[in-house]
Amino acid sequence: MVSVPARTKKVMIVGDGAVGSAYAHSLVTLDIADEIGIIDLDRAKAHADALDLRHAVPYAPVAAKKIYAADYADCADADIVAITANAPAAQFDGEFDRLRLLSKNVAMMTSITRSVMGSGFRGIFLVVSNPVDVLTHVVAAASGLPTSRVIGTGTLVETSRMRTIIADYIDVHPGNVHGYVLGEHGDSAFTAWSNVSIGSLPIRQWMRHNAGTYGIAPFDELDHRVRQIGFEIYRGKGNTSFGVAGGLARITTAVLRDEHVILPVSAYVDDAYGLSDVYLGVPAVIGRDGVRELVHLYLDDDELASYARSAEILRTGYESVRDTVG
Ligand SMILES: NC(=O)c1ccc[n+]([C@@H]2O[C@H](COP(=O)([O-])OP(=O)(O)OC[C@H]3O[C@@H](n4cnc5c(N)ncnc54)[C@H](O)[C@@H]3O)[C@@H](O)[C@H]2O)c1
Repeated sequence: MVSVPARTKKVMIVGDGAVGSAYAHSLVTLDIADEIGIIDLDRAKAHADALDLRHAVPYAPVAAKKIYAADYADCADADIVAITANAPAAQFDGEFDRLRLLSKNVAMMTSITRSVMGSGFRGIFLVVSNPVDVLTHVVAAASGLPTSRVIGTGTLVETSRMRTIIADYIDVHPGNVHGYVLGEHGDSAFTAWSNVSIGSLPIRQWMRHNAGTYGIAPFDELDHRVRQIGFEIYRGKGNTSFGVAGGLARITTAVLRDEHVILPVSAYVDDAYGLSDVYLGVPAVIGRDGVRELVHLYLDDDELASYARSAEILRTGYESVRDTVG
């Protein structure tokens, strides 16, 4: 193994499936982490992925890295533990409702969290496993860490899909589409159109200005497409991986470089937007200590009602497992 600088950026990944391995690849090729440990029930697969990833280093313009199949003891001094595991029984069953995975994944998440905390870990948890909002709440409760240090990918992936769909629709770069999808990573997610802009121009004005080109803007249809496109990907290849792994890599960079960047993650909301005691998609300022603060957008009444609906669904989901978390 190569030697790495004394102050390494160390990330542990628990769950080396489609998402975990795509994330690991981003950590290597984008030079985000110096040390990457991979934990999976299937240790041989974790070892094979670690070897394979190491072979991506010589041809990439990146620093040398330590990459290996890891044990929970290796989490002790990690900056980040990302949980991308999925219990073998927790597969989509045709219904494509992420909350249906809850009963299958909750015991796994509690057990993983306790194993990580048993190492003495005091870093930041990033959670991807579905249903991500409820499971992020579970990890926060089971770890005993401050909620600011436990973050889910939330509506980061829907936001990326929205930006891409709008960019395609009006033919601009997705980087010039600003705004967020909020709420549950799931069926009740909603695009906060009141805050979406193209460059700095509010999208509703853009659409009005260009009514000759677009006619009446089909906001509901576009919003529906944002929620459904993940299932189109899932039907085609059996998982979704690159989009969420890209979002996870983005949060990782924000933490490791203490960026104070604003991202729509699953964060703990208490007394904001009329919501309390719930993890859900919300724009938050992210840095080395996790969530520094939430961003308080001005939403219209319909959007606040959609937020309340998402929160109610997620609170009910969490209440159904709260006792098992302890
Ligand atoms: N939040 C999002 O936006 C988003 C997007 C895509 C996928 N997901 C979720 O991410 C999770 C992973 O998806 P995937 O496609 O990579 O799944 P996958 O089935 O390809 O991989 C899951 C991996 O977890 C491992 N695993 C299972 N139990 C474990 C345990 N107790 N400890 C360690 N490893 C364990 C399995 O061996 C497997 O390698 C799923 O829950 C999926 O629904 C979330």
